[in-house]
Amino acid sequence: MSSNASVDLHTDPSLHPGLDVYAVAGNPIGHSQSPTIHQRFAEQAKQAMHYGRLQPELDGFAQAAKTFFSAGGKGMNVTVPFKLDAQAFADQLTSRAQLAGAVNTLWTQDGKIYGDNSDGAGLVRDLLAQGIAVHESRILLLGAGGAARGVIGPLLEHSPKCLVIANRSSTKADELIKLFANVAASKEVALEARTLAQLESSEKTPYPFDLVINATAAGLADESPLSIAAVANIFTPSSFAYDMVYGKTTAFMRQALQRGARISDGLGMLVEQAADAFLLWRGTDLATQIDPRAVLAKLRS
Ligand code: ATR
Repeated sequence: MSSNASVDLHTDPSLHPGLDVYAVAGNPIGHSQSPTIHQRFAEQAKQAMHYGRLQPELDGFAQAAKTFFSAGGKGMNVTVPFKLDAQAFADQLTSRAQLAGAVNTLWTQDGKIYGDNSDGAGLVRDLLAQGIAVHESRILLLGAGGAARGVIGPLLEHSPKCLVIANRSSTKADELIKLFANVAASKEVALEARTLAQLESSEKTPYPFDLVINATAAGLADESPLSIAAVANIFTPSSFAYDMVYGKTTAFMRQALQRGARISDGLGMLVEQAADAFLLWRGTDLATQIDPRAVLAKLRS
């Protein structure tokens, strides 16, 4: 393992004899909060484990994951840009990972690699914990990449009044509408696609939204996917704006604040999805011993 320069030695299971070793893989990964979050869960549940960071080369995820698991690694969280690679790497997917089309959690069991996706469940739990209703809400989801796709199923499960998916280019949003049409119909949710430009038109977008979720990559470049005209059309002071990015107030969040809306970053979603991974790895009976909201409060303090 040490011959692979892309692998952080602290994730090498042979360096931690007697401890179960886990890692988060991403590129870049230096600022990930996942090691701190899992360390806190381990403390709460009195679990002895090691959790490190892995930064594979952009084309090196499968090799790094293979090396990690072959050396005895027990489980891995996966973040940008490797969630599709992780899906391909898994032998067996949970149904929500299949629906999400991406994997954020891997683990070994019975000689196989399993893949799950807890992003959507994490988002919904964070929203509910913040007092934000999903049921019967009008929801606008910005973006149609992997991050957006991962949360559509869990949002639909809670039967919002409508879910509008808006993307810069229409093709990807249209594809997602087709993919989730049956789930939406079974939950009686109006599922619709828009381009970001159509959000400016009160004919195409005739009502404001209760909840607007930014799942685009625009925030990474400190841009917002929304134009000034779109902002005026979709937000009211009773809207809630959620950005999946964490650790900063993004341009999208600033726009929402200017309209009097409430905002949240995605740190709560990160903690909640990590809780699912921790329980999958260490045992669901530990659910009563971990407290994700306390971990979140500590991270924010
Ligand atoms: P991820 O897996 O993080 O979702 P992705 O699959 O590359 O990453 O998708 C990025 C999403 O952000 C896409 O919906 C993309 O829009 P396009 O499909 O039109 O490319 C969106 N995006 C990225 N930069 C953006 C920007 N500056 N403004 C609006 N949308 C943007």
